[in-house]
Amino acid sequence: MPKTQEALYATLDLDLSWSERELPERERTKHVHRLHPYLGKFIPQLVEVLLGRYVAPGGRVLDPFAGSGTTLVQALESGYDAAGGDLAAFNCLLMRVKTARYNEFTLEKELRDAVARHESLPDRSECLTPGHGYIGQWFAPQAAADLLAWRALVDEYEHADVMRVVLARAARSARLTTHFDLDFPRTPQREPYWCHKHKRTCRPVDHAAHFLRRYALDTLARIKAFARVRSRGRGAVVLHGDSRELAWCDPAEHAPFDAVITSPPYPGLIDYHEQHRYAYELLGLDDRREREIGAAAAGTSKAALAAYGEGIAAALRNAVSALQPGAPVLIVVNDRRDLYPEILERAGLRLEGRLRRHVNRRTGRRAGEFFEDVLVAVPE
Ligand SMILES: C[S@@+](CC[C@H](N)C(=O)[O-])C[C@H]1O[C@@H](n2cnc3c(N)ncnc32)[C@H](O)[C@@H]1O
Repeated sequence: MPKTQEALYATLDLDLSWSERELPERERTKHVHRLHPYLGKFIPQLVEVLLGRYVAPGGRVLDPFAGSGTTLVQALESGYDAAGGDLAAFNCLLMRVKTARYNEFTLEKELRDAVARHESLPDRSECLTPGHGYIGQWFAPQAAADLLAWRALVDEYEHADVMRVVLARAARSARLTTHFDLDFPRTPQREPYWCHKHKRTCRPVDHAAHFLRRYALDTLARIKAFARVRSRGRGAVVLHGDSRELAWCDPAEHAPFDAVITSPPYPGLIDYHEQHRYAYELLGLDDRREREIGAAAAGTSKAALAAYGEGIAAALRNAVSALQPGAPVLIVVNDRRDLYPEILERAGLRLEGRLRRHVNRRTGRRAGEFFEDVLVAVPE
């Protein structure tokens, strides 16, 4: 029998469950959180509440599966230091760009200069190698030429990484995909098509210069907006690598961390390298997908779930070794396979509480009711 609303709400942590009206998309994706799309992130407001409840002001927070950097960015905004790691090179690039401090004058000068130079190039199609490899397959000729011309400029600038993120975002928008299949498009869309999202006939994108300009200016505005709200004197460290092996802190230099706040990958759900394939192809980033824990490509067979459990437990054990005694480990999961009791035990963690939250997911085609838990654990 379905639960009544009252019975359902009694099991929920209402301070962690926002309705769309209470927390509209523009708040969830405020300032640098929207520098680039990323499938599978949690929202900054969740991190904000958890920091306030579990970590003393000014503490140091660790996220071993830091993804697009939500924990790090919110930590900086809420007055904490943070460290985060991720296996995926693009995620680390994005986190570094989000959390770095900038001389805004230089950043603005460089971005505007790059846009102006790019737009004044006489014939961008010179950069094009038509019909060849990923770029030839997934971009219309002019779009590929626009992107490659931007790529040729970025190394000349101090803020090349910011421009690389702009390039990746423009590339994502300029791919030959339908508007309703931007996350994991299967085949290039070269002809006009009936668009389920816009309820009309849409055409695949044929150039990218307008995206480069728009995202360069948007990135600048977002970095400036974050600079106004981030705490002075707080910093974030980004480590690229496998969180089972990363050396989180040099004990000679830093005190241990005061908390872990993280959302691990779920088994068989998302391929974190593949979702940003265009960025790896265009930027020549190191692809380590074979080390992804729980990758969708590995499936959900018994063996895959066992490898997943072992991988997450090893990563959590490694994170715990960098914590103060008794520090909380907060893990955001949708553990419908009930894998986490065993994972926590193997990681040397004791479950102290489970906060249930109602996630209002109304974006794109991933609509529907969705619940997730915040596991509150402490080292044994
Ligand atoms: C659910 S996402 C984290 C999202 C993050 N909370 C955010 O808001 O952006 C899980 C992340 O774990 C990373 N990951 C998977 N296997 C890993 C490994 N072996 N070491 C480090 N990171 C890994 C993925 O690349 C992905 O970015």
